[in-house]
Amino acid sequence: MRIDILCLFPAMFVSPFSHSIVRRAEERGLVEVVTHDIRDFAHDRHATVDDYPYGGGAGMVLKPEPVVEGVEHVRQLVGTADSPVILLTPAGRLFTQRIAADLSVLSHFTLVCGHYEGVDERVAEHVATDELSIGDYVLTGGELAAMVMVDAVVRLVPGVLGSDQSTVDESHSAGLLEYPQYTRPEEYRGWRVPSVLLTGNHAGIAAWRRNQSILKTACRRPELLDDIALSDKERAWISESLSNRK
Ligand code: ADE
Repeated sequence: MRIDILCLFPAMFVSPFSHSIVRRAEERGLVEVVTHDIRDFAHDRHATVDDYPYGGGAGMVLKPEPVVEGVEHVRQLVGTADSPVILLTPAGRLFTQRIAADLSVLSHFTLVCGHYEGVDERVAEHVATDELSIGDYVLTGGELAAMVMVDAVVRLVPGVLGSDQSTVDESHSAGLLEYPQYTRPEEYRGWRVPSVLLTGNHAGIAAWRRNQSILKTACRRPELLDDIALSDKERAWISESLSNRK
């Protein structure tokens, strides 16, 4: 997989991508991440990439030419006319584990990091194939959002993590939050590991874990349960557990 990132601060990516799982994936030849400075595609010798908004208002807007021509440069380099071009913006669709999984099987995509008050809308209209946000808050730029997305996608690329199982059970992979995990010691300061986990009864442990996942999701992120097929028994059990907690 190759990921190209167009941004104003390529240096921001050096440290995160040289320590994490991304580095391991690159070393193993599974992933290549290439950053590009949008300023290199500016038209004037001052490398101007932003300008005042038409219609007035605060802040500056990223000009269309350097972004569009940066994307064209990437398309030429990679030899692709139709791989996704994703604009990172707080006004985008919410980036989820589902989207990360969909991106993890592609051979190429491009991320465009917005800045200032935003990016000239013609980029979204004519060049970007999608607009994504990593959450309902505003960052100073898309670089941090791109790092988050690359991390979430790269760890799902087959072969990047040691055991395939490790992405199956985790939070969000089945639409539920992950059940609680414990390791040794069995008792610490009087705090005991739930006894079912010590039984070796695999069916009992699996049932406990599913119940814990469902309960945690019902407490913290009830909206996620809308997309989950729960049995009547599970629904009744959730209501009872939640009312016992009150
Ligand atoms: N740029 C600024 N805020 C952002 C966000 N929440 N997600 C993606 N890109 C952004």
